[in-house]
Amino acid sequence: MTATVRTESATAASGAPATAGPHFPDGFVWGAATAAYQIEGAATEDGRGPSIWDTFSRTPGKVVAGHTGDVACEHYHRYRDDVALMAELGIASYRYSISWPRLQPDGTGPVNTRGLDFYDRLTDELLAKGIDPVVTLYHWDLPQALQDRGGWTVRETAEAFAAYARIAYRRLGDRVRTWTTLNEPWCSAYLGYGSGRHAPGVTDPAAAFAAVHHLLLGHGLAARTLRAAGARQISITLNPTAVYPVDPDSAADVEAARLVDGLHNRIFLDPLLRGRYPADMIEHMRRFTDLAWLRDGDEKLISAPLDVLGVNFYQPAYVSARPGTAAAADSPGTEGVAFRDPVGPVTDMNWQIEPAALTRLLERLHRDYHGIPLLITENGAAYPDEPGLDGRVRDAERIAYLDGHLRACHDALSAGVDLRGYFVWSLMDNFEWAEGYAKRFGIVHVDYTTQARVAKDSARWYQEVIRRNGLPEHARAEE
Ligand code: FCB
Repeated sequence: MTATVRTESATAASGAPATAGPHFPDGFVWGAATAAYQIEGAATEDGRGPSIWDTFSRTPGKVVAGHTGDVACEHYHRYRDDVALMAELGIASYRYSISWPRLQPDGTGPVNTRGLDFYDRLTDELLAKGIDPVVTLYHWDLPQALQDRGGWTVRETAEAFAAYARIAYRRLGDRVRTWTTLNEPWCSAYLGYGSGRHAPGVTDPAAAFAAVHHLLLGHGLAARTLRAAGARQISITLNPTAVYPVDPDSAADVEAARLVDGLHNRIFLDPLLRGRYPADMIEHMRRFTDLAWLRDGDEKLISAPLDVLGVNFYQPAYVSARPGTAAAADSPGTEGVAFRDPVGPVTDMNWQIEPAALTRLLERLHRDYHGIPLLITENGAAYPDEPGLDGRVRDAERIAYLDGHLRACHDALSAGVDLRGYFVWSLMDNFEWAEGYAKRFGIVHVDYTTQARVAKDSARWYQEVIRRNGLPEHARAEE
């Protein structure tokens, strides 16, 4: 690291625009996000039990090149340096996740205090550097012992999750203000139990819908527990997607978009924020399950008050009606619906780049869900960057992606959306689930043989955005 330590506050102190470009409101939170399994490593240290991702990544053919999170970025041991780096970049808030199997190796029962100690040290280190911790309780690493008893397809897991939330709160609640229950239950349910592309690798539509419900119930039970224990800010992070009909004038395409919007967005948002599953989704689920798991009172529990909704955004979806098309494995019951391949520029994930879709999504969430305060808890892009001979990582494409999406956030703010902050995904390159280490999302480059960290150009660009609390006047084009 060669950068100088900056001393300015994270927001423009005077409140006056520091640049001629878009300026963000005072107090807008500038953050960076990671997740336990993707960065910590130390998979068997200090009493951590196995999670479904340990099992899945060891199953041949599931993860690119057989990569696992055993070592990852060694953040478990290098967290002090990583926090120092964040402080140097001016990052005001850090979204990290707690590994459930570190706290409870079997998912229930005895607490592993050595696991708790790690998050205690990390939290203190952050606070000492003036960085506000935002905790996610579940970023996909379910204890394997719970999966062996049915995982998210059974009610016991939702109940165990609330008990685990309480353990984490008891230790960290005096210092952590914002508690996020789940990260992207869409992925946990549909990729974990529907298409099987993620752990635990189950391929059963009925199981996917049971998982949707028990994840939401787990959220509701944990939210109630956290609130009773005194938590001030409770949230959940979803990955709502802007779903567009390919031809907006085609009634069939509009209908296809409504179905996908239901499966992707409303099936989570409505019970959380309106207290009921949408009628069309109840009907849709009945094609696969008798809904025996849906008990009286569950929807009330799921709709426990939320203080902020986390939004992870990467790309929009375009769908059309095409009779004869097989259902997408991660979207049960979408026979006859075609998902369009990306059009125009894409990232290394082959994800379409369309920042205006983020503005539209934020406006829609604001309009349809009572102006709930929103936080972008993830946004970013993968590119195959490597240091040049001079050691510098010139990731101009990532800068253009972040710049475009931050302008989109600004447009939403100008339209009256209550957007509180932005967390870049990710602080550093890490284990990208089924893609292993092949996809690099970091604003900090990680050399996996030496564990050396190098702030990419995008990190320096972000540092400047934070310092100004605003963007340059002109949009950043790819170089
Ligand atoms: C999200 C995940 C996050 C990361 C990004 C690229 O779905 O929450 O862990 O993998 O995608």
